[in-house]
Amino acid sequence: MNMDSIVSLCKRRGFLFQSSEIYGGLQGFWDYGPLGVELKRNVKDAWWSDMVSGHDDMSTLPGAPTPYAMEGLDCTIIMHPQVWKCSGHYDLFHDYMIDCRETKKRYRHDQLNGRWVEAKEQRVFVTAPAGDDEQEHLTKQALKFFHLRNKHIDELKWDGEVTCLTEIESFEQVLGPDTNKLGTLTEPREFNLMFKTFVGALSGEEGTAFLRPETAQGIFVNFKNVLDSTRHRLPLGIAQIGKSFRNEITPRNFTFRSREFEQMEIEFFCHPDQSQEWYRYWRDRRLKWYHDMGISEKNLIMREHHKDELAHYSIGTADIEYAFPFMADGEYGELEGVAHRGDFDLRSHMEGKLDETSDSLGLQLDENGKPKWKGSGKDLSYRDDLTNEKYIPHVIEPSAGADRATLAFICEAFYEDEQPDENGKPQTRTVLRLHPRLAPIKAAIFPLVKKDGMPEVAKEVYLDLKKHFKVFYDEKGAVGRRYRRQDEAGTPYCITVDGQSLADQTVTIRDRDTLEQSRIRIDECEQVIRERMNR
Ligand code: GAP
Repeated sequence: MNMDSIVSLCKRRGFLFQSSEIYGGLQGFWDYGPLGVELKRNVKDAWWSDMVSGHDDMSTLPGAPTPYAMEGLDCTIIMHPQVWKCSGHYDLFHDYMIDCRETKKRYRHDQLNGRWVEAKEQRVFVTAPAGDDEQEHLTKQALKFFHLRNKHIDELKWDGEVTCLTEIESFEQVLGPDTNKLGTLTEPREFNLMFKTFVGALSGEEGTAFLRPETAQGIFVNFKNVLDSTRHRLPLGIAQIGKSFRNEITPRNFTFRSREFEQMEIEFFCHPDQSQEWYRYWRDRRLKWYHDMGISEKNLIMREHHKDELAHYSIGTADIEYAFPFMADGEYGELEGVAHRGDFDLRSHMEGKLDETSDSLGLQLDENGKPKWKGSGKDLSYRDDLTNEKYIPHVIEPSAGADRATLAFICEAFYEDEQPDENGKPQTRTVLRLHPRLAPIKAAIFPLVKKDGMPEVAKEVYLDLKKHFKVFYDEKGAVGRRYRRQDEAGTPYCITVDGQSLADQTVTIRDRDTLEQSRIRIDECEQVIRERMNR
């Protein structure tokens, strides 16, 4: 599977466009076109329906210790700045960056690789962005630096393996990836990933606010509101879908790493003693969801984080990862993280952190200029009305990216085969074999030819089905070509009105994946599509 073909299909058929394209685009920002917006909405709707609105709270689901309740929430993107102090994002959510004084380019410290090389009695550490073609880049850099031609490549004496720049202590003998001078890289500096903005007319630190880097915190700070207004007992899951923003240093791989993206998050509040069982439940449940939505087992893995990989809040995390086509062979990219967050967030929003750095944020200061209590001071613990036990719940967090999931569904669905055209010549057919629940258009309706009363009947079928599903009407060109356009859009069913339809009120329905055509009555089209979608 070739990523370039997928990217080209997405642009050609209106799934994804570069944001502000007519001005040259803006790195890390993407727009969803007419087909893309339907697909992504279907991904979010499927998630919401399966996890929240359609959740069976009366039964013990397979693998779950007990029945549980689910509720939804929709919080603001900009929240009180103390939220980010207490969540740890203000102090800890950063990458280490390196600048090149010569080229003014900026790199992530942990994403530059390099290798020692010697020639003409000088030894330097040449660097390149980590990736598939890094050795090629390193060789080019070294040749250029030592003023050697390709035919003298043997004069380069490589020493040791490729290593990350984080292993190198002094940068004096380091050659940046895009320069020809030694020692132009700065020391690594912290770079917070939150986008800053200002609230109200104040432009100084007092009005500083941040675009949320995760939707999760809106759920934590509303935990008590949801509990009190719904009168649920624990365990309780609270779900939210919404935009998050991260000023990623190296946005890349299409929408995989964007600066504006959507998350689908659940914070699941439970008794600490049951938290490990719930952690296992959510890992398995979420993995199964991707399988059910059409991702094959061979392309999906569950990976437990090593201790040193864990985020600051986590006492255990498993990533659900997909074999995206832009990853190297055998490597996977994160689709969703399922984290055991313990009581970190609720406790932190209750008690806060008293540290002296907080005043730079313009947080509450006392009359002596010292930071006041930084948590909310509110009691966010839970009292079980049956046992009277009072505790701070533990939280399991399945946190998925709507854009990454959408991209994974597109990659998984992309398929090319050879089919004969109208003249019997083999033609490459591109198909998006999307799960019918996710497909942007559920059915396309065609008159076989644009005469003999067929368009009139086809339009009636179209208008009738439109009340129930997203459908598409097309009467232009040869019917074979119309089928192929729908295959590319991922439309699972094509309904054709032909000469026979006028006589017996039947149409043909063609299946995108099996290419089988069968004849059904016009008045059963809606029911047949509905049944096939749920198969
Ligand atoms: N509340 C926990 C949290 O935000 P995360 O692993 O940082 O955890 C969760 O993010 C999910 O959000 C990821 O698994 C991914 O699907 C999505 N995500 C994170 N950063 C992203 C980015 N820059 N672009 C697109 N999706 C992203």
